[in-house]
Amino acid sequence: MSKQILVTGGTGYIGSHTVVELQKSGFEVVIADNLSNSKAEVVDSIKEITGIEPQFEKTDLSIKDQSDALFNKYKKIEAVIHFAAYKAVGESVERPLEYYNNNINSLINILSNMREHNITNMVFSSSCTVYGQPDKLPVTEKTPRKEAESPYGNTKAICEDIMRDFCKANTNIKCIALRYFNPIGAHESALIGELPVGVPNNLVPFITQTAAGIRKELSIFGDDYNTPDGTAIRDYINVTDLSRAHVVSIDRLIKNRNKNNYEYFNVGTGNGLSVMELVKTFIKVTGVKLPYKIVERREGDIEKIWADTSYANKELGWEATKTTEETLLSAWKWEKKIRSL
Ligand code: UFG
Repeated sequence: MSKQILVTGGTGYIGSHTVVELQKSGFEVVIADNLSNSKAEVVDSIKEITGIEPQFEKTDLSIKDQSDALFNKYKKIEAVIHFAAYKAVGESVERPLEYYNNNINSLINILSNMREHNITNMVFSSSCTVYGQPDKLPVTEKTPRKEAESPYGNTKAICEDIMRDFCKANTNIKCIALRYFNPIGAHESALIGELPVGVPNNLVPFITQTAAGIRKELSIFGDDYNTPDGTAIRDYINVTDLSRAHVVSIDRLIKNRNKNNYEYFNVGTGNGLSVMELVKTFIKVTGVKLPYKIVERREGDIEKIWADTSYANKELGWEATKTTEETLLSAWKWEKKIRSL
C-alpha cells in the first residue's frame, strides 16, 4: 500500500511542484490549503502532469478546529510536509501579527495533531533567511543563525526552534527543516509555476512579467554592493530540484535514516549569481528584450549569500541538477503560457 503524505500549502508554488514529485515517486498525497495565495485549479494541473488526482481539502491550519478535523478525517497519514505559510517579507513588516498568527499557530496545531495521531515524520519549509548576512561564505549548516531581518524571517527561526524543542521532548517524532535558498522556475510542462498576486516582490517573476510587457521595466536594487559587478548575489535553485529534496527527506524519515530526530539542511545549488548575471542570462537564453534600470538598494536586502550544499548532498543523496539557463527558460515558458503569448 502506498504511503500517504499530507502536503500543507500543496497548491502553492513549491508545494504543487513537490506534490508532482511525490506522486511520481509513488506516494499518495493529501493537499490541505486555505487557497489564500493559490488556486484550486492547480489540483487539475497536477493531475494533468501525473495522471493522478491528489485529494484536496480547503483547510486553514492556523485554526485548531480545522486542523483537528483534517487529522481526524485522514487516518493513513505517514508524514507531513508543511509549506502553508505567509511568505512576503515586506508585507510581514506591515502585518506582523497576521504573520506570527498564521505561520506559528499552524505549525503548533500540526505538531500537536501529529503527536495525538502518532504521525512521526515532518518536513518543514525553512529559509536561508535564518542566516541573515553571514560573516563567511558559503554558508554551511554550522553557520550561526542571525537575528531575523523581518517578522517573516523571524517566523522561520521561531518555527525551527519549536521543532527542535518539540523533537527533544518527543523522541519518537522526527523533523527535517529544509533551508531554501532562492527557488525559481516552473515545471517543465508549464502546467504549474509561480502565480504572484499583484506586483511581484521576487526577481524572476518581475523579470518574466517585464519581458511579457506587463511591467514597464525591471528595477535592479543597487549596483554598489561589494560584489564583482556591484549587484547582490543569491543562490537560485530550480523549483523541481528543490521539490525533489523534500521527497528524499521524506524517504530518509520513513526509512529511519536520520541521524538526529531534528535535522536541518541547506537546499541550494552552491553557486552564487548576481542580479546582473541573472538578467543577462535571461536575455541571452530567451532572446527577449528586457528593459531595466539601476535604482537604490532595497531596504532589508542582504549583499550576498550562497549555500555550501555538501552536507545535504552527502546526507540526503540529493543535488541540484538543472542549469540556470534551463530554469530561466522554464520560467519564461510558464509566463508565456499564463499570458497566452
Ligand atoms: N531584486 C531586484 N529587483 C526586483 C526584485 C528583486 O533587483 O524587482 C533583487 C533583490 O534586491 C535581491 C535579488 O534580486 O538582490 C533577489 O531578490 P528576491 O526578492 O527574488 O529574493 P530575496 O533574496 O530577497 O528573498 C528570498 C525569498 C525570501 C527569503 C529570502 C532570504 O523570497 O522568502 O530570500 O534571503 F526570506
